[in-house]
Amino acid sequence: MTDSHVPVWTPTDLHHQLSDARRFAILDVRNEDEFAQWTIEGRAPLHSLNIPYFELLDLEDENEEIAAAVARIVPQRLQGRLPEGEPLLVVCAKGDTSPHVAEGLRRQGYDAYNLEGGMVAWGDHYEMRPIVESERLTIIQISRPAKGCLSYVVASGKEALVVDPARHADRYTQLLAEHGWTVKAVIDSHLQADHVSGGVALARQLQVDYRLHPYDAVHPEDLLPAAFTYRYLEDEASFALGEVSVRPLHVPGHTLGMVNLLVDNRYLLSGDTLFIDSVGRPDLGGRAEAWAPLLFHSLQRLLALPDATVVLPAHFGTMHEADQQGCYRASLGVLREQNQGLRKVAAGEVAFTAYILGSLPHHPPSYDEIRRVNAGLTQVDEPHASELELGKNRCALSRSNGE
Ligand SMILES: [Fe+2]
Repeated sequence: MTDSHVPVWTPTDLHHQLSDARRFAILDVRNEDEFAQWTIEGRAPLHSLNIPYFELLDLEDENEEIAAAVARIVPQRLQGRLPEGEPLLVVCAKGDTSPHVAEGLRRQGYDAYNLEGGMVAWGDHYEMRPIVESERLTIIQISRPAKGCLSYVVASGKEALVVDPARHADRYTQLLAEHGWTVKAVIDSHLQADHVSGGVALARQLQVDYRLHPYDAVHPEDLLPAAFTYRYLEDEASFALGEVSVRPLHVPGHTLGMVNLLVDNRYLLSGDTLFIDSVGRPDLGGRAEAWAPLLFHSLQRLLALPDATVVLPAHFGTMHEADQQGCYRASLGVLREQNQGLRKVAAGEVAFTAYILGSLPHHPPSYDEIRRVNAGLTQVDEPHASELELGKNRCALSRSNGE
């Protein structure tokens, strides 16, 4: 392949474009099954076209430059299919083939760009937003936009907690070092199913307690105990972090050991119990009928908190859920009115359970293995972890099945 000098969008550039709802189109040259599994989503609907790379490669001979072959094929095969007059981002799996396609398109007059590092880099991209920032209390929301995962660093004075960290530990250790924070504990709100947790490894690296509820230190399908040591994250066993208190609330439903953290009596790290648009799904342990009523009682418990409580979930479904600052947060008072699942709580346990059982999305098969990894029962290397994590989280109820 020849060197390409097409302009690139980094994952940070792409995130800006998506969160500002700018107009652009995507040409995704991955295979059809990869495209079907996972695509780039933004705040506004995107014009996204999938044409596998091999369909664009019809070399006249083995010495033909790839960009030249693409440029030759574009008028024949893509005429009328590609949007004109707006930027066109070419995307592949790892960013190694897309530059050549973008180069070929540029030669045909398209305003084409290459996504640097492809979908792998997009999947591993993190954004950080302060929720509150003062000496007394700082909360940084760390998102993985491609997956819809949210994690947190909570700090008061010089002490910090890391909650629900993803597996790229350096993102967290850099942030901690920049602020001179000393970590007191790493906490997982629950045994995650949609992504490989960084919790145990980060706690080991920092030589601090890893905290979890014991009900989630068991694989729900295999019933095998987790192969790591942890410290019990006990309901109502509040503890101090610098100048503020952290109050764990055991709220089973999405998992049996789900714990939410109420920080400084105001900020609720709501894990996968309560999201901005939706509530957590109770079926991933294979016992939806038994766990949906638990979720009902847990949401009732959260609803007893004051309206001013700021809800900070562990996932988002779409970028629409972000506010003007790009933060995924909402007051409990607003969610009481607008969150579909919470509104159903008012209808009572029977109606709530029926609604939940009628709104369950597909259970991705990779989730059982991811939980095995997160329980320390299986080890995975980086490529396998990346492969397991492909796609967006599916921890929330289906949004399409609403009222
Ligand atoms: Fe979850």
